[in-house]
Amino acid sequence: MTAMTTSYDIIIIGGGPGGYVAAIRAAQLGMKVACVEKEKVLGGTCLRVGCIPSKALLHASEKFHEAGHDLAALGVKVVGIKLDLPGMMKHKTDVVNDNTKGIEFLFKKNKVDWLKGEGSIPAAGQVKVGDQTYAAKHIIIATGSSVTPLPGIEIDEKQIVSSTGALSLEKVPENLVVIGAGVIGLELGSVWARLGANVQVIEYLDRILPGMDGEVAKSMQKILEKQGLQFKLSSKVTAAKTSSGGVSLTVEPAAGGKAETVKADVVLVAVGRRANTDGLGLDKIGVAMDARGRVETDGHYKTNVAGIYAVGDVIAGLMLAHKAEEDGVVCVEHIAGQKSHVDYNLVPGVVYTAPEVAAIGQTEEQLKEAGVKYKVGKFNYTANGRARAMNATTGFVKILADAATDRVLGAHIIGASAGEMIHEIATHMEYGGSAEDIARTCHAHPTLSEVVKEAALAVDGRALHS
Ligand code: NAI
Repeated sequence: MTAMTTSYDIIIIGGGPGGYVAAIRAAQLGMKVACVEKEKVLGGTCLRVGCIPSKALLHASEKFHEAGHDLAALGVKVVGIKLDLPGMMKHKTDVVNDNTKGIEFLFKKNKVDWLKGEGSIPAAGQVKVGDQTYAAKHIIIATGSSVTPLPGIEIDEKQIVSSTGALSLEKVPENLVVIGAGVIGLELGSVWARLGANVQVIEYLDRILPGMDGEVAKSMQKILEKQGLQFKLSSKVTAAKTSSGGVSLTVEPAAGGKAETVKADVVLVAVGRRANTDGLGLDKIGVAMDARGRVETDGHYKTNVAGIYAVGDVIAGLMLAHKAEEDGVVCVEHIAGQKSHVDYNLVPGVVYTAPEVAAIGQTEEQLKEAGVKYKVGKFNYTANGRARAMNATTGFVKILADAATDRVLGAHIIGASAGEMIHEIATHMEYGGSAEDIARTCHAHPTLSEVVKEAALAVDGRALHS
């Protein structure tokens, strides 16, 4: 082993949202920080091949679809609409480049050292990158997650793709089969459907969007079906055969039974993600893992080995960029002796389909299971003046409040700007607010946010516009 070169207060392994945000926060707190990243750019899955490029394509494909289908109803006639897929991909690439360079700039500004290469932990207090070994008082593992493979189905990123390949298809497939009706399947399925593909989604469960409120999932399925997506629920894909003519999938009922063949030009595998821990050397230094291969941590992100912490997708909890960021900030603040905290019940979830789906807090199913008595206030976008003016009347806001105290326990939105509007409710919930608190808050007219206010009024049976 080479001699120890530099020593740091904190070395973070992984430059995604969990890692880079932790690095910046640690620098703000006056620590000497380095972040290890093996890819050519910083930002992790989210910036390179996840949240950001997918949003660029979702937005661009939505505009394409609007131009062809929705603008005429607003008195805007568009003729000669043509898809420029390379142009759309260039927009995506430019956005990714700007964002990843932005993180590099933030590192320089905050004097965070980027250690380029793959990091491992030969011993507590040491991080090895290439042939250099660095000393660190604290090490944070923020290595994220990668696509869960499906037995019998080999991803080649051409005909059988993961989300990474689905963000870079060179042409619009005639038939796209998506395996998994989760967030990735629905978002990327929507992109290619809008650009002209026939999209069929095969899902193991008897519903889409597992974990989300059941009513929301059912409504969203109908909305997506109207948009042309087809769903084959309670089904599993057990094998795939590729040839120059396309992909042949063997699909069986989830409960067992006769298999059928489904053909596709391209297949997207979106059946979840798993923690990245390979190559870190965790087994050698005795870092405990849970049954699902994630790094085990206590409430303060500490592993069982002193001085080693973990945040983000590599530990238990929602695999979301914003959750990882909160983990990273709070982990570092604890190292600095502060007493910060993340309320994991209040991590919003957003699906960036059109319309968007957004959720915070508990679902009806969770409240029922916990035996909590609750009231429901629901208001439809159709009854909102601004939504009508925008021709965006699909969807609703549903607020769940404690039957006895009126405290908001959960909220679920399908509709335009759902991903933005959820945060008003999140803030109320963060302060332990009631439905009455939201209902008494003056909302500008005409805005979509009035749907939130009306849903809050509806909790007490007194919505004004329905
Ligand atoms: P997911 O867990 O959201 O959905 C996977 C779906 O695949 C589930 O419905 C599951 O029942 C189904 N499935 C599993 N095995 C199957 C099989 N053999 N055959 C058919 N269906 C099967 O996972 P997804 O969509 O891959 O996303 C991965 C992670 O990334 C999630 O944690 C998600 O929250 C996160 N993500 C979040 C986004 C957002 O917040 N907008 C966007 C993209 C990803």
